[in-house]
Amino acid sequence: MIDKVIQISKEAGEIIREGFGENFSIEYKTNASNLVTEIDKKSEATIINFIRKEFPTHSVLAEESGKHGTSSEYLWVIDPLDGTSNFAHGLPIFAVSIGVQKNGETICGVVYDVMRDEIYSSEKGSGSFRNGQKLQVSTNDDLRKSMLVTGFPYDIQDNPDFAIERFAAFLKTSRAVRRLGSAAIDMCYVAAGVFDGFWEVHLHPWDVCACKLIIEEAGGVVTNFSGEKIDIYSKQILATNKFVHQSMIQVLQAKF
Ligand code: IPD
Ligand code: CA
Ligand code: CA
Repeated sequence: MIDKVIQISKEAGEIIREGFGENFSIEYKTNASNLVTEIDKKSEATIINFIRKEFPTHSVLAEESGKHGTSSEYLWVIDPLDGTSNFAHGLPIFAVSIGVQKNGETICGVVYDVMRDEIYSSEKGSGSFRNGQKLQVSTNDDLRKSMLVTGFPYDIQDNPDFAIERFAAFLKTSRAVRRLGSAAIDMCYVAAGVFDGFWEVHLHPWDVCACKLIIEEAGGVVTNFSGEKIDIYSKQILATNKFVHQSMIQVLQAKF
């Protein structure tokens, strides 16, 4: 199955690469920050058509078109273009993210970093890889020496949930904090040992599914802000190399 997931991630990525910098239509979803382009939709339709052909009985949960089917033990969880704002503004940091669950457990995950042509892939129990090379999280255990990454939800004006206070707290307690604009790439960089930790609120299952497995299979840990296990529907995500996990929880739990 992983080969099929890689194959369709690359096909979708090709569509996105061809569309990058060209004229494409943009619509607003909930507000002026929350965009969807015709390329997001084209990528998603291509992925779903592929699943229909190759795995006709499988169910799908996709960002732009929602749920397709409910009866299968297999569920494909799809973000057809993660980093749409970057894409729409010409910033070449975006990805395709596809996770596959069997009976609620993620069994494989693929993230395709489109402009760097890098495939992050993982199968449950078999490690994580970037273009075939095994990935390992960092070994740093000192928050002060950590490079962290985060993102902000589109509804931050209406539902801030301390996102700015937590961002400020980590600026003061870590070496550096980055905001790349693609949760999928943020988390793959945790798996690759580039970043020591990532946190975000209000992500969606299509942001979390593939990446959670890729990080765990690279030796990292993914929980909520209290350190409890999460599924892909969690509204809080803390993903680290495991060594800075407790220190990050302390900062996230501070009273603002
Ligand atoms: C968004 C990106 C961004 C994160 C947002 C996500 P989208 O996904 O991953 O980095 O901060 O919360 O919604 O909308 O570009 O697929
Ligand atoms: Ca996304
Ligand atoms: Ca998306």
